[in-house]
Amino acid sequence: MTASSGLPVRVDLLTGHFDAINVQHKSTCMRDLQGVFSDDAARKALPEDFEVYHVEMLASPQQEGELHTGTTHLMPGKVADEFFMTRGHFHQRREQAEFYFGLRGEGILLLQPENAPAYTEQVFAGSVHHIPSFTAHRLVNTGHDVLSALAVWPVIAGHDYQSLQPDGFRIRVFDRDGKVSLEVAGV
Ligand code: 6PG
Ligand code: NI
Repeated sequence: MTASSGLPVRVDLLTGHFDAINVQHKSTCMRDLQGVFSDDAARKALPEDFEVYHVEMLASPQQEGELHTGTTHLMPGKVADEFFMTRGHFHQRREQAEFYFGLRGEGILLLQPENAPAYTEQVFAGSVHHIPSFTAHRLVNTGHDVLSALAVWPVIAGHDYQSLQPDGFRIRVFDRDGKVSLEVAGV
C-alpha cells in the first residue's frame, strides 16, 4: 500500500505502530471515562490526564464500502480492582462487523450481543477476533504490559456509546488476589 503521497505505508506487527503520513491519533484519558468503571470514586482519585488508551489510524476515504484500519494501545493498570478497559461501543450501524488482531500484551475482548448473553475471547499476540454485527465490544488489559490490537472496520460503522448506558457490559473483569476474575454485573 502507498499513501496518496506515493510513499509506502508500514505497520510494525510487534506493536501496531504505523509508519505513514497522515496517521490520526485519538487519546482517551481518565477524565473521559466517567461512569465506565464500577468504582467511579476510585477513577476520579486517579490523575485525570493519565492516558488510558489511544488509537492510531490510517487515513481512509470516507465513503461507503471503504474500511478503517487502526491500532488500539491500552495501558496496563486498574481502577480499584477493575482492569483498565476501553469505553466499548456498539457500531452506530449495528449490522457492521469488525475484525481485531491481537499484537502484544494480554487481555480480554468482551463481546455483548444485543439479544444474547455476553461472552469473552482471550487477546494475545496472534489472536484473531471476529466481532459480529449487532455486538458491542470492549478491550480489557489484564496483563502488565501495553495491550495492542489492530482492527479493521467499515468507515460507515460509526460508534454508539449511549446504548450501553447506564449498566454497560454485563461482564466486568477484576483482579481478585492476583487472579483474573470475570464477574457478571448485578449478580
Ligand atoms: C472502532 C474500533 C476501535 C475502537 C477503539 C477504542 O469501531 O472504532 O472498535 O478502533 O474504537 O478500540 O474503543 P472505544 O471507541 O470504545 O473508546
Ligand atoms: Ni468497533
